[in-house]
Amino acid sequence: MPKRFYLTTPIYYVNSVPHIGTTLTTVVADITARYRRLRGEEVWFLTGTDENGTKVKEAAEKQGKTPREFVDQISQAFVDVFGKMNVSYDDFIRTVEPRHTRAVQRLFEILRERGHIYPGVYEGWYDVASETFFKETDLVDGKSPDGNEVQWVSEENWFFRLSAFERPLLEHIEANPGFLLPASRRNEVVSFIKQGLRDMCITRANPGWGIPVPGDDSKVIYVWFDALINYLAATGWPDDPTWDEKWPADVHWMAKEIFTRFHATLWPAMLMGAGLPLPKTVIAHGWFTFGDAKMSKSKGNVIAPLELADEIAAKTGCGPKQAVDAVRYSLAVLLPYEGDTNYTRDEVDKRYNADLANDLGNALNRSLAMAHKFVDGAVPDAPPEAEAVAAVETAKAEVEAAMTELKIDRATEAAMGVARFLNKYIDTRAPWALAKAESPELPGVIRSMLLCLRAAEALVRPVMPWSADAIADQIGLPPLTDWNAIGKPESIPAGTKLGRAEPLFPRIDPKKAAEAASKLPGEPASKPPKPENPDRSAEKSKPEAPVEPIDIADFMRVQLRVGRVLEAEPIDGSDKLLKLQVMVGDEKRQIVAGIRQSYQPIDLIGRQVVVVANLKPAKLRGVESQGMLLAADNVDGSAILLQPDFEAPEGARVH
Ligand code: MSP
Repeated sequence: MPKRFYLTTPIYYVNSVPHIGTTLTTVVADITARYRRLRGEEVWFLTGTDENGTKVKEAAEKQGKTPREFVDQISQAFVDVFGKMNVSYDDFIRTVEPRHTRAVQRLFEILRERGHIYPGVYEGWYDVASETFFKETDLVDGKSPDGNEVQWVSEENWFFRLSAFERPLLEHIEANPGFLLPASRRNEVVSFIKQGLRDMCITRANPGWGIPVPGDDSKVIYVWFDALINYLAATGWPDDPTWDEKWPADVHWMAKEIFTRFHATLWPAMLMGAGLPLPKTVIAHGWFTFGDAKMSKSKGNVIAPLELADEIAAKTGCGPKQAVDAVRYSLAVLLPYEGDTNYTRDEVDKRYNADLANDLGNALNRSLAMAHKFVDGAVPDAPPEAEAVAAVETAKAEVEAAMTELKIDRATEAAMGVARFLNKYIDTRAPWALAKAESPELPGVIRSMLLCLRAAEALVRPVMPWSADAIADQIGLPPLTDWNAIGKPESIPAGTKLGRAEPLFPRIDPKKAAEAASKLPGEPASKPPKPENPDRSAEKSKPEAPVEPIDIADFMRVQLRVGRVLEAEPIDGSDKLLKLQVMVGDEKRQIVAGIRQSYQPIDLIGRQVVVVANLKPAKLRGVESQGMLLAADNVDGSAILLQPDFEAPEGARVH
């Protein structure tokens, strides 16, 4: 078996159930894994839980559980949440498993045999919260640099000769620019090593929980030394002869706080000491903060990913799988690659409406609706236009470039670029006008639209696998999982019978959003939407005013013209208004119409309407309206739009 592309996440402490932060790294690694599979590579993706810490025993006791009962339960919560978040891991390692203990003890022995581990007396401060040793001079006001309580420790222990690896580490980092990413963090590591590495105490007195030192049961191995070895243990090392089909890891993903000291220094030094190959890339992203603090259970500001998905489903009406994909999307696109990001529900909602409902959702709806309307719902047998093919190629190249540097946020934006291009392409190529003119270009334009839609399906697949499947289903084809086929005409074969467009990501309903917000602790409920004009039902209930006769000249002052709806979307905070882009002759007008309760935006696109074209512009809900649509009142107060009896010339006057 050839070497697989092996990638890992940190193994998570079992002191809290998964939250949006721990889910972030796992989803980001999942996107990396899915992208690699899409590129045709054999991937091995590992995640898991870190269960041997000193804290575990205390936490279990507090809950009246045995340590094993305690860790089983929380580790299972990680398995459950990652499963529901559609994380495609191949292996989940727990540090309480015998395969892990075996690897840790063996690596310890090898390093001791090679003289890199020696006995000594340790005296210093220990921070139980971060499982880290500190010197007196490291402390800030008697606490760890992170502000945690520290305990004084004085014990006979085993030490790892980290100091011996200063030079080899610096040489390796310099010779392999892709080893530590991003470059800004690599520089931090270089300065850290250059300040001098001290030998490290790697054992603690055995508290009855942890991995015993081989041949010395009175001690357990320091949890960080133990935890890092999970990456090697999961390959089957040292007993399974096929371990090198996985090792070395191609990518270790994590956040910045465990990068410099542990993954970029201690871990490679341990491997060097044992004569084992080093991982290819170790990469750290920044933090999500929540209300400007690092999210953590102790600060009580934790967002649970599945609860967030439930909230999204409740306020949009999207399906549960799309809600999970929306959370995955938010993690990918908001990933703090270099700095930190404040992750808020508001930001998630904004990206949902702008990117998923407007860009991707509209591209899907418009393309399929128009293909049904103009070419009988079958993929036309005409070559796609060069402009569309080029746009897909550009997006592919951008995704590829971003993924090479593991810039998941940029890659996600680039993938969504196809949907954005598609919406613009539809506006400029105006299939409705081509259909009306019976232009021979129409089939090629529709094929191009479908080619882009198919490319969008494939390019967003690593981030939103379930929604990509749903898009493929609506197109009427099996999922497109061959990278090389993306953007090729054969990805969307002529004659394919297209499925029906169903809204995948309906926009956030302001009323439901207000309800959801009011249920959140500490978050002010949004104000209920104000009644707004034009409110057709309110008008209807008013008594009819006596009508004064007018001259024909008065009537002729009102300029009525035929327009065609190009785009339609709801207006945030209003359950009545739609914002339309309407072509009136050669002029594009933005018109706000109070018809949301009578028409779905998708049903309006491409249709002719009658516009009052010389109305003074007005603002409704802060959105400028440059005209008005004519509509009749239905008995229930809803609107019936007026439409020419048959296709009228674009911009025709109405008398
Ligand atoms: N058990 C160690 C890791 C051992 S790996 C050999 C540990 N566990 S942890 O549960 O604290 O997980 C830390 C990791 O969770 C971070 O490095 C990051 O990947 C992820 N994150 C946890 N909270 C996060 C944020 N608020 N923001 C970004 N990443 C987050 O450290």
